[in-house]
Amino acid sequence: MNVLGIDIGGSGIKGAPVDTEAGRLAEERLRIPTPQPSKPDDVAHVVSSIVEHFHWSGPVGVTFPGVVVDGVVRSAANVARSWIGVDAAALFGGATVLNDADAAGMAEMTFGEGRGRRGTVLVLTFGTGIGSALFTDGTLVRNTELGHLELHGKDAEHRASDRARQEHDLSWEHWAERVQQYLEHVEMLFSPSLIVIGGGASKKADRFLPHITLDTPVVPAALQNEAGIIGAALAAAS
Ligand code: BGC
Repeated sequence: MNVLGIDIGGSGIKGAPVDTEAGRLAEERLRIPTPQPSKPDDVAHVVSSIVEHFHWSGPVGVTFPGVVVDGVVRSAANVARSWIGVDAAALFGGATVLNDADAAGMAEMTFGEGRGRRGTVLVLTFGTGIGSALFTDGTLVRNTELGHLELHGKDAEHRASDRARQEHDLSWEHWAERVQQYLEHVEMLFSPSLIVIGGGASKKADRFLPHITLDTPVVPAALQNEAGIIGAALAAAS
């Protein structure tokens, strides 16, 4: 089945038809810069231009970088506050809408590093924020928001996201120390059997993962850039 997947990120909104059985993009993806500020109507306009670009009339799945319950946005840490309370599913013309990290996690559990893994698996995305997807025996526990755990008196994503690395001009090694502290905290809370690192930073996993030492195996995501688009499509297909 082909489903249009759209991934709303801090800097770009990306979409492509996805072959949901193969876990692959069926056409080349389209990327449009995220409007700044990223207000609901402006983002909806970009989403509908992606739908039009692919002449799409079938099911559509869309990711959102905040808590989404039954299609309604409940938090907006890195996008305009006016999103809170918006029925995004209705705004996007009846699309299936879910948290971005949950979508990336679903893709990774179906086609990537989490495939067939039982027990507790955490997919953590390091990008503009820190996103989390928690799976227990393959079942997703939605909207876990572990990027907002407190670390040294601060919101963890303000210390250890990829944006924090760039904004504070941290070396990979220095940033890895922060990620290490964060992961130790998460490990203590959940005793996972596997941690998968996704998001923008996963492309540079070789720069920081060698500095991370945990009891839990930590691996880079297999799907990287496309996980959000594929996961959005999977959510709309199920
Ligand atoms: C948001 C999460 C989101 C993550 C990654 C956090 O700031 O609260 O919902 O998954 O950023 O975009």
